[in-house]
Amino acid sequence: MIRLGVNVDHVATVRQARRANEPNPVAAAVLATLGGADGITVHLREDRRHIQDRDVFVLRETVTTRLNLEMATYEEMLQIALKVKPDEATLVPEKRQELTTEGGLDVVANEAAVRGAIDRLKAAGVHVSLFIDPDAAQVAASAKYGADAIEFQTASYSEARGEAAVAKELDKLRAATAQAVGLGLHVHMGHGLNYWNVQAVVRIPGVEELNIGHSIVSRAVLVGMERAVREMKLAMTEHYPNPKRA
Ligand code: PXP
Repeated sequence: MIRLGVNVDHVATVRQARRANEPNPVAAAVLATLGGADGITVHLREDRRHIQDRDVFVLRETVTTRLNLEMATYEEMLQIALKVKPDEATLVPEKRQELTTEGGLDVVANEAAVRGAIDRLKAAGVHVSLFIDPDAAQVAASAKYGADAIEFQTASYSEARGEAAVAKELDKLRAATAQAVGLGLHVHMGHGLNYWNVQAVVRIPGVEELNIGHSIVSRAVLVGMERAVREMKLAMTEHYPNPKRA
């Protein structure tokens, strides 16, 4: 069974809309775990728009599965990650004005920063995953630098419309996954995955983990976190009614 990492950033987005102390992403993480999440993912952004430093430290103490910290590679964030020691750090690109992470990290162009972050995190016992596009050069560089895993950015797949465009994006993900597995990398995927488009992704041989946030938190607002996670775990199997591709 492929693991599900639940990204609870948007619980904190609602909290920060009022600079209040609810809803609490730590409580959401507990409920997500009860619903079957195999891990909890949070992105501590430079602008602290949702998750705050304290959330990450409290999650480190309370998450009973795996904590995955998404982070950019600059020094302040590395210092925090080295203190928190999440089970895994996923290195992502970050732009201040973006609504959400746009595109994968260009690990070829940013070799020195990425290698430096990998070496320091691994020395602290943190597994390192690189959030990259499904591109042969990016996969090869990730393996060369010593990453443990890569997470393929699935935005192009989830935003594709029409059978031919969807099939083309799935082919790219399939080829890049086969290459990564051949190089000894663990393969994760995430971004824009939802209850309707997730099934084609879980059928790709070699995928070990999905990280999903927006669609689960959106459903959780209406039906509760535990149920939303349980339904995503079901959607990741073949036994889910799939009336439409959203
Ligand atoms: N993986 C990474 C690296 C991300 O940056 C995000 C978005 O924070 C996700 C997965 C989850 O994407 P979504 O919220 O669209 O499910």
